[in-house]
Amino acid sequence: MTFIQLTNVDLVYGSAGAKEVGGETLAVSSANLNIALGEFLAIVGPSGCGKSTLLKLIAGLVRPNRGSVTVDGLEVTHPLKTVGMAFQNATLLPWRNIRDNVMLPLEIVEPYRSRQKQDREANRDRAETLLGKVGLSGFADRMPWQLSGGMQQRAQLCRALIHEPSILLLDEPFAALDTFTREDLWSVLQELWLFRKCTIILVTHELREAVYLAETVHVMSSRPGRIIKTSSVDIPRPRTLESTFQPDFVDLVHDLRHHISLGKQH
Ligand SMILES: Nc1ncnc2c1ncn2[C@@H]1O[C@H](COP(=O)(O)OP(=O)(O)O)[C@@H](O)[C@H]1O
Ligand SMILES: [Mg+2]
Repeated sequence: MTFIQLTNVDLVYGSAGAKEVGGETLAVSSANLNIALGEFLAIVGPSGCGKSTLLKLIAGLVRPNRGSVTVDGLEVTHPLKTVGMAFQNATLLPWRNIRDNVMLPLEIVEPYRSRQKQDREANRDRAETLLGKVGLSGFADRMPWQLSGGMQQRAQLCRALIHEPSILLLDEPFAALDTFTREDLWSVLQELWLFRKCTIILVTHELREAVYLAETVHVMSSRPGRIIKTSSVDIPRPRTLESTFQPDFVDLVHDLRHHISLGKQH
């Protein structure tokens, strides 16, 4: 069953003010994508090919110039509240402790917003449970600067999930971290998904990360980005670092790399 659908989507930046410096940029061209409810999907491709743009289209932050984007059968016409997002650099508010950072969406998104006061205790419990899931029990009262980059990124994942979004959009969330921290977070994210089963779209240029985490990996060509290859990942879960050394894992990573270099040549 299709949950998110992109049909022949073009996205042109600067089309409204084409006379301005820079003119128009065709960022995404004829993109077609079908995403099932609860699927964990990865999008890989060269820098500047339109990966972040694809996420912005799904979140309703930009509107397509051609084609359509639908979520749950409805055309996306405004920024969606059912979406959680996390980016490369943790954007925790420095003056709030970790718990209050995680609970931030509940102050903004309905129906939580109007029920904030009466649900305060339950919400605190929800935040603590999520923090426990990512290995941050006992850190709720700390300030962001007291945590390492990897721990801040864990907290950011909790903040993205606290309002129980049906879609989690992750834009190179681990790119700024060292290899060991990043690989730790793969298992954290896998566990969150097995626990919560929301639809996750992960943008990454790390092919091992894509294969470790996703059920389906889509390769985009260089700009204007199109989907040029889709691979299913049949490696059993829970996947571990051991899985990354298995022949079928290694073969799939090679194959994806091959398609990315083909996509750069056109
Ligand atoms: N707000 C914007 N205005 C103009 N051009 C943009 C804007 N955002 C992205 N672009 C351009 O669109 C293309 C795709 O960008 P992006 O989706 O960020 O790529 P990726 O995430 O794959 O690196 C790039 O050439 C980028 O420079
Ligand atoms: Mg990007």
